[in-house]
Amino acid sequence: MLALRLVTLDDSPLLFAWINRDEVRTVSGSTGPITPSQHEAYMARAIAQDGLWYYVAMVDGIAIGTGRIELCNGVLMLSYYVDAAHRGNGYGSEIIQILTLEAKRKGYTHMRAIVRIDNAVSLRALLGGGFTLSKILTLEQML
Ligand SMILES: CC(C)(COP(=O)(O)OP(=O)(O)OC[C@H]1O[C@@H](n2cnc3c(N)ncnc32)[C@H](O)[C@@H]1OP(=O)(O)O)[C@@H](O)C(=O)NCCC(=O)NCCS
Repeated sequence: MLALRLVTLDDSPLLFAWINRDEVRTVSGSTGPITPSQHEAYMARAIAQDGLWYYVAMVDGIAIGTGRIELCNGVLMLSYYVDAAHRGNGYGSEIIQILTLEAKRKGYTHMRAIVRIDNAVSLRALLGGGFTLSKILTLEQML
């Protein structure tokens, strides 16, 4: 059974390794590598729960992934990651479900997730978790 627990400083090396995986950087808003000092500052915010609630997903005593909800310019954002060795078991969907309930429990009535259009598994997990496509499409070009 999957359970989420808030991160501690002991989780920092594992989370740093996960956040810098190519597969995570390529689907993230800022695709460059996260530096150790950026990660330290992020962990400090997470521990203080300062608009950021950062969790480790545990299954049978093993950390299989992570999820977080974060206030960004007044909007609650959801993101998550499941280690490659543990994918396809419904864990991503469970993380979304638990964090949706957690956001409601905290009194939020709206949550947003940003997903690349070619990230079919994540899109499927979000649609299954009650998210709907927003009416705004973001377009960009390399300059
Ligand atoms: C996105 C991610 C969290 C999904 O985790 P997961 O535990 O493998 O996902 P689930 O097993 O819950 O599957 C979610 C849905 O995708 C489907 N799915 C899972 N693996 C699939 C695959 N290889 N091909 C097609 N569909 C797949 C599942 O059937 C499920 O759909 P359903 O509920 O309609 O049956 C994981 O792939 C990941 O960490 N990716 C890299 C980081 C990332 O993309 N994060 C999200 C950024 S928005």
